[in-house]
Amino acid sequence: MQLSKFGEKFAGSSGISGLMEDLGTALVEDPTLLFMGGGNPGRIDSVQAVFAARLAAIAADGDQRHELLGVYQAPQGDRGFREEMARFLNREYGWSVGPENISLANGSQSAFFLLYNLFAGEAADGSTRQIHLPLSPEYVGYRDIGLSDNFFSATRPRIERLDGGLFKYHVDFDALTLADSVAALCVSRPSNPTGNVVSDVELAELDRLAKARGIPLIIDGAYGQPFPALIDETATAFWNDNCVLMLSLSKLGLPGVRSGVVVARPEIALAFSRANTVLNLAIGSLGPRLLRGTLDDGSLLQLCRQQIQPYYREHRDLALRAVEAGRGDLPVWIHKPEGAFFLWLWCEGLPIDSYTLYERLKGRGVIVLPGNDFFIGSGDDWPHSRECLRISYAGDRQTIEAGIALIMDELHKTYATQP
Ligand SMILES: Cc1ncc(COP(=O)(O)O)c(C=O)c1O
Repeated sequence: MQLSKFGEKFAGSSGISGLMEDLGTALVEDPTLLFMGGGNPGRIDSVQAVFAARLAAIAADGDQRHELLGVYQAPQGDRGFREEMARFLNREYGWSVGPENISLANGSQSAFFLLYNLFAGEAADGSTRQIHLPLSPEYVGYRDIGLSDNFFSATRPRIERLDGGLFKYHVDFDALTLADSVAALCVSRPSNPTGNVVSDVELAELDRLAKARGIPLIIDGAYGQPFPALIDETATAFWNDNCVLMLSLSKLGLPGVRSGVVVARPEIALAFSRANTVLNLAIGSLGPRLLRGTLDDGSLLQLCRQQIQPYYREHRDLALRAVEAGRGDLPVWIHKPEGAFFLWLWCEGLPIDSYTLYERLKGRGVIVLPGNDFFIGSGDDWPHSRECLRISYAGDRQTIEAGIALIMDELHKTYATQP
């Protein structure tokens, strides 16, 4: 088949889609693999039961069922839900937003595709503009999202070594230079893949830089506030009308629903929803319908605090203990886990590339993600970018314990055969 340039880029199997297919195939071929690779949220049956009960109630009511199944949403999405969301953000954080600040999306991944390409790529004057990642490694799902080449620029982090074999990335403001071609800044907070949380002070400085340049600061809150808020309690939720906050229902346990929320000043929210109408015609109704009322009555936040956050805290601690138990004297550092549901290991001086490590681990029955692909725009000629591994601790306890034991054992073998 003869593909367009667009087709070559988006239908090709290079990069992350190749890796994802590889993960999928590995699982089909061997369902006993210990899967610690994807971004799937954990299975929390009590949370699913809450959403299932809501779904059953909607399905049982003729009018609500018709609203859910039989009606195209308005371009910005369910107005009632957007009003409720705006009330909620006013009440919780004192942000001055109305429904005109909110656009709904069919998952935040597709929202990123549109939003990034609204700002970056070929500009009207023929120049090329970039999304700048002030702290890369960043979410691998951004990597192939640009409609044009040279889509991202990035700044490597400053690394701080901490006690207890931990380390932490910081935004390296000394190295952060913004070319004139930068169209927007973006950080995931908390970060996928590292579990890092850009601090309040760092975020305020990024906001200042963005405002000074007249470009937006995009905050990817897929794991952050207000829901599911898998984030260090000391981090403050942040938004102003120069920010675009991207939210997702996925990490609440609803990735199958494909629902996301964009919070932005009205001009951006409208631009987004117009582009989204071209792509999707309308927004799916299920996410907003499932959540309707749960922001007003506080039950969604309660579900996060009482069920979802404790689940991930417990799994994080289990994963940390497992790495610590198996680490011995290896130069393996754990990024301080401040949010999301990943441990990010830095295997300093790793004698092999993290892809090779990934292959070896797959051969031994455990799937993780090699770190290389996350260093968007920052990896070339940086040994650190080939020494990292992302491990999801969203799965069950047995997977965490057995998987990490295997990973640590393989690391001991790998370092022992150092030439
Ligand atoms: C940081 C981050 N942003 C965005 C997404 C996209 O999520 P979704 O499209 O399910 O809303 C993910 C998914 O894993 C993610 O980890």
